Amino acid sequence: MRSALGESMTHRFDLNSPANIADPYPSYARLRAEAPVYHSAEPELWIVSRYADVRTVLRDPERFSSEVGGLESDPFNPGLDLPKWLTGILSRISAVRVLLTSDPPDHTILRRKVGRAFTPRRMAAWEPRIRAITARLVDDMLAVDRSADLVRDLASPLPTTVIAELLGVPTERNDDFKRWSDDLINGLLTGGPRIPMFRSAIAISWFFLRTIRHRRRDPGDDLISLLITGDGDEALTQWELVTFCILLLAAGNETTTNLIANAMLAVFDRPALRQQLCANPELAAAVIAEALRFDGPGQGLMRVTRTEVTLSDTVIPAGAYVIPLLGSANRDPEHWPDPDEFLLNRPNINEHLAFGSGIHYCIGNALARIEATAALEEIARRLPDIAPSAPPTRIASPVLRGLRTQPITFTRNKIPAQ
Ligand code: HEM
Repeated sequence: MRSALGESMTHRFDLNSPANIADPYPSYARLRAEAPVYHSAEPELWIVSRYADVRTVLRDPERFSSEVGGLESDPFNPGLDLPKWLTGILSRISAVRVLLTSDPPDHTILRRKVGRAFTPRRMAAWEPRIRAITARLVDDMLAVDRSADLVRDLASPLPTTVIAELLGVPTERNDDFKRWSDDLINGLLTGGPRIPMFRSAIAISWFFLRTIRHRRRDPGDDLISLLITGDGDEALTQWELVTFCILLLAAGNETTTNLIANAMLAVFDRPALRQQLCANPELAAAVIAEALRFDGPGQGLMRVTRTEVTLSDTVIPAGAYVIPLLGSANRDPEHWPDPDEFLLNRPNINEHLAFGSGIHYCIGNALARIEATAALEEIARRLPDIAPSAPPTRIASPVLRGLRTQPITFTRNKIPAQ
């Protein structure tokens, strides 16, 4: 049996260290080689880094449960120390089933109820609208005579506007939406302040409760109206609906923003790729697929073991918290030839784990890909000389990989949308 720490892993691997957040890939390579199942004592975690093992963890909900409640502190944000009164309330609320953190049979039932609203056909029907929103955002960037920022002006407002439209929320609430979603993600994952997080969680729940009541009386052709329909066992309860709407904001906004930002960072770093993309904007979908593998927005997930499990010769006890590192699996040389190269023609590109794998596979993957592809295509067509005007600033999180800001320049020659 291998020692859990790996004999030659001389340095402690610290998920939250600034060096790891800036560039985790060298540490991942060492983990895969020296301690593929790394035991961290503080916080008490088992970090899994090889492609085959990460895939096993994700595809085995019987041994690796998603019901991860009960963790006393947040390992992705050790500064977040939840007060007792709040953990009490949260444990009662967690009686409401949430898709992301449930196991079968609850997960199976919930996924069936919401899945019909997220079919690839339904998402594809949204593509023209998504392209129109993207074009409008680029129009605004070209029209306003001030310095532009890729994240603030395009990558961030795009998914927020799309999800707000999908849910049938009036455009004038878009700014609230963005703030609520940012506050939740910042508080949970990136060391942001707690008070705005709680305030936004309450505001958002209240907002959705009222919207749902309204849609029951007066349904439209939006996602909430669709989710409300269904009889008996097929109907979501009021709180299941509220928590699912919140989950959509939390799971879909920042991740898609980061995908666009990470993909553009890879393009900026590679002049030949930039030239290729601007000459052939239809390559955008391939760039996005490789960006998901190369530098995905979600670097790690969490599971808890139901029984003792052996992975890569390491014994993990029952009841242990396990972090499958998606970002490391996606650079594993055992699965990907030249894993650190950004290549557009990988035959097995769809095997990347950026959207997870198995029963929790991202329900919004088609939507995210449509949005990010539209953004890159629009940039390639209308801002062909786009370039960074200053270094980016990074989100301070080991799991949420992306940019807070990326100042850019381009020629404002106002090429009209096609
Ligand atoms: C590039 C963007 C995105 C990435 C990288 C991403 C990544 C992921 C991953 C890794 C999971 C699996 C979680 C697990 O196994 O524990 C997941 C699940 C999920 N995602 Fe996404 N996601 C993205 C965009 C979206 C969007 C746009 C939406 C919806 C609007 C969305 C909604 C969800 C939901 C509801 C789940 C839970 C599914 C389940 O538990 O069955 N995601 N996502």
